[in-house]
Amino acid sequence: MQLRSEAPIGVFDSGIGGLSVLRHVHTLLPDESLLYFADSGFAPYGEKPEQVIVERTVAITAFLLTQNIKALVVACNTATAAAIAGLRTRYPDLPVVGVEPGLKPAAALTRTGTIGVLATANTLSSEKFLKLEAQVAHDAGVRFLLQACNGLAHQIEKGELRSRETVQLVERYVAPLLAQQADTLVLGCTHYPFVEQLIREIAGPNVAIVDTGEPVARQLQRVLTQRGLLRDAPTVDAPAPVLAYSTGSSSTLSLAFTKLLQLDASVQAVSGTLASS
Ligand code: DGL
Repeated sequence: MQLRSEAPIGVFDSGIGGLSVLRHVHTLLPDESLLYFADSGFAPYGEKPEQVIVERTVAITAFLLTQNIKALVVACNTATAAAIAGLRTRYPDLPVVGVEPGLKPAAALTRTGTIGVLATANTLSSEKFLKLEAQVAHDAGVRFLLQACNGLAHQIEKGELRSRETVQLVERYVAPLLAQQADTLVLGCTHYPFVEQLIREIAGPNVAIVDTGEPVARQLQRVLTQRGLLRDAPTVDAPAPVLAYSTGSSSTLSLAFTKLLQLDASVQAVSGTLASS
């Protein structure tokens, strides 16, 4: 596999959630061109069989490789838990950076020793996550309350960041954690930073919220540096391009870029089979 430093970085999620990671990548590495892939036609992943998620992840990675990416960010906790090990085996030369719930940073922040983890049902039941949870709980002497937030990524995918239904869902998921003395909440799904403000209002000022978007961007920077794959600053002062693909509605993704990131991206629709691409 021939990787070139001027090639784009692929960033992938089940839908628009990965934009919460892409914004940190774009801020930290503004000279890098980015290819975002939203599998919105197949979202949400959170309650789908693991095999489906593995197949989608493999197909999307193969598609992004046809677009000559030099590195891949799996900007989805659910896909990372289900498929990242297999991806690394299949493409040993491709730098692959995943996302997982920030349990360690949360363990460093908590004062009550009780931490709530908001994520999809699939992430919370995955072997990868359960191993990490047991390890951190043991090492730091903290307890994690696992809260599957069924339906929340779907609300965000629909652009409903503050609708009645979304507020009710967040209240329903956050209240039991607070009642059990959680003073730190981990956003274990990349969609949730887009309702962080709402979560903050419901949880109150004494609760810390942990998101991993920025550490993931820093990890990507480290990996690219080690591999000699960082792009040189361009000689002309033009912003690096951000291109995006969606297996769902391209106008919805385009709107998400503008509304959530204040960023213009050129968005193309692709078929879910990824066959003609
Ligand atoms: N954004 C994804 C995650 O980080 C998945 C949400 C979903 O598709 O259910 O887990």
